[in-house]
Amino acid sequence: MSAKPKLWITRRLSDATLERAARDYDAIINFEDGLSSDDDLVAMSARVDAIIPCHSERFTADVASKLDPRLKIIANHSVGVDHCDLPALKSRGILVTNTPDVLSDATAEIAMLLMLGAARHAVEGDHLVRSGNWDFWSPSFMVGKQVTGARLGIVGMGRVGQAFARKARGFDMEIHYYNRTRLMPGQEHGAIYHDTVESLLGVADFLSLHCPATPETTGLMNAGRLALLPAGAVLVNTARGALVDEAALLSALQSGHIAAAGLDCFVTEPGGNPAFSPHRNIFMLPHIGSATVRTRDAMGFRALDNLDAFFKGERPKDML
Ligand code: DGY
Repeated sequence: MSAKPKLWITRRLSDATLERAARDYDAIINFEDGLSSDDDLVAMSARVDAIIPCHSERFTADVASKLDPRLKIIANHSVGVDHCDLPALKSRGILVTNTPDVLSDATAEIAMLLMLGAARHAVEGDHLVRSGNWDFWSPSFMVGKQVTGARLGIVGMGRVGQAFARKARGFDMEIHYYNRTRLMPGQEHGAIYHDTVESLLGVADFLSLHCPATPETTGLMNAGRLALLPAGAVLVNTARGALVDEAALLSALQSGHIAAAGLDCFVTEPGGNPAFSPHRNIFMLPHIGSATVRTRDAMGFRALDNLDAFFKGERPKDML
């Protein structure tokens, strides 16, 4: 019997994933769950044939140039791959995969939570009740923005964008979207296509970001584009922090042009942006869009499916 491939799992994945990995691979598992440095990534590449990393491990061009030729495949436990310099890894002959599809619903659920929470003063309301300072009620108190029937703009109508649109239809929202390519008519389900982001912004009472972070989308929501949103708009970001110019967002919130924001992603992670903390019209979560039991298992299994295919000599389903 040939030896099992040597696999490094950089973070504490779900128990079901780790059990399967330990059964099928000679697995080194980071049960302590600490972050790895660039040097750790380079050093481990000489000890293993495959790595399952998360978006927390950054395979920059510099790291890629130092990886040991033993490493053959990086099977990401994430759909986003902005932490991987794909051309640099390709030039080293390292195959890269991701985990699309399986996290779309969980991420769309978090986008819905953030949209509703931002629109209806969830942070302020929770703080008031929790602090014991709730001693007043009035019909003019904590009046929010109604989601039902409002116009929703979606930037990036891929799997997560479409899952979010499906959920938003349950709130009778009028769905508009921008995508690099228009969906097939059978996929639109009445959503209105805009061929520029700028055109979409003008009608987005609620705007939700679902595109990947690339050099083209970094800083997409800058001061100029935030100004194109209707007054009182709500911004939701469950994609990547890099899409939003955080200083510009803060100014737009402070001026009142943007009524509220719901953010699961930040430029700096972990940590977030301390300048946001005093603002209770910003509903924030710590990058937990895909964090459900079912989705974590599905992500782990999808990464392992990709590895299994690779080591059987087949093309992994999610090869990038
Ligand atoms: C993803 O899969 O890209 C999520 O952001 C979690 O890593």
